[in-house]
Amino acid sequence: MENLLITGGAGFIGSNFVHHILDKYPDCKVIVYDKLTYAGNLDNLQDVADDPRYSFVRGDICDMEFVEDVVQEHKVDGIVNFAAETHVDRSILEPGSFIQTDVYGTHVLLEAVRKFGLRRMVHISTDEVYGSVVEGSSVETDNLLPNSPYSASKAGADLMCRAYHVTYGVPVVITRGSNNFGPYQYPEKVIPLFITNALDDKPLPLYGDGLNVRDWLYVLDHCDAIDLMLHEGRDGEIYNVGSNHELTNLELTETILELMGKPKSLIQFVEDRPGHDRRYSLDSTKIHGLGWRPNHAFENALEGTVRWYTENRWWWEKIKSGAYDNYYERQYGTRRVLTGS
Ligand code: NAD
Ligand code: DAU
Repeated sequence: MENLLITGGAGFIGSNFVHHILDKYPDCKVIVYDKLTYAGNLDNLQDVADDPRYSFVRGDICDMEFVEDVVQEHKVDGIVNFAAETHVDRSILEPGSFIQTDVYGTHVLLEAVRKFGLRRMVHISTDEVYGSVVEGSSVETDNLLPNSPYSASKAGADLMCRAYHVTYGVPVVITRGSNNFGPYQYPEKVIPLFITNALDDKPLPLYGDGLNVRDWLYVLDHCDAIDLMLHEGRDGEIYNVGSNHELTNLELTETILELMGKPKSLIQFVEDRPGHDRRYSLDSTKIHGLGWRPNHAFENALEGTVRWYTENRWWWEKIKSGAYDNYYERQYGTRRVLTGS
């Protein structure tokens, strides 16, 4: 790809992917197209701002006319779509923007790929589309049983990608990744929320019994997998991207506290998330067949992540002290505390 449009490139995974592409491909130009919602943050890209191969366009993926203008102006030949509303708790409060961006916005990008004959689109999806998996692991052909407005919107986008491939031959590849963690993750998601709360000796609000299970994938390993899909994925195919590192939220929280030398008394059990999926688990045999494996050991990557948030207060303090605080209170202020300090 020579001119890559990275939608949602100012968010967590997208900005890590921008760094990855610019580091690895000296001849690739990157156009970040991002609406800059509360989750989009140009601080994530400040170190590449002067790179002549990088440009930034503020725009909404739901704006078809503008997407088409940008594709033509920058001679875009490939798209990687990270743009989405991504936080499950927010989708429970306000589902509309999820349906709009995650489903309709993906459709707009697929239209652009079709209209201008782009070489490839990689659509970034999630393990959440399979729903809660109590036993075993999901394979790509499993039924989709999403339980939250977020995961239902993501599932809708996946189905739209599939339909565009089958109906129009659009060259789209779907990745379904597990829970990511690493630098630049907005501190509403559990790992950065808990690290930054612990740094300030604030309680860590653990939902329900704390025994829900997530599979933790370091963001740079996910970026490697997306890169592989961009270059070697097969059109119309879906690839699970999991790390096989499943932990209960309680185990995860205790590990974070231990790494930070903070007491377990910071754990505060609070009322559960409605419709809270018990477990996600991916069978990633298919992408392993193309040679991808996670390269980062979980403990080292988590330690590095704790260090990053410890050393980069400038990045997250302004987020937590701004509009986010109001949101946090709206969301958790009414959540009943069950036990803990
Ligand atoms: P994020 O919330 O950090 O970033 C989302 C980005 O999309 C932000 O920069 C935001 O400004 C932008 N955006 C939102 N609506 C937009 C719109 N209408 N037009 C243009 N830009 C818009 O998200 P993330 O955690 O980096 O996730 C990126 C993608 O990966 C999402 O599609 C998500 O569903 C998927 N995913 C995330 C994880 C995870 O654990 N974080 C795991 C698997 C898949
Ligand atoms: O699985 C991939 C998905 O991971 C992505 O598709 C989503 O975009 C991303 O937000 C993430 O969804 P989760 O709901 O799994 O992530 P979150 O960080 O919100 O929560 C992780 C687990 O921690 C979940 O079981 C809920 C729990 N949790 C979360 C928060 C924010 C708590 O116990 N307390 C909290 O305060």
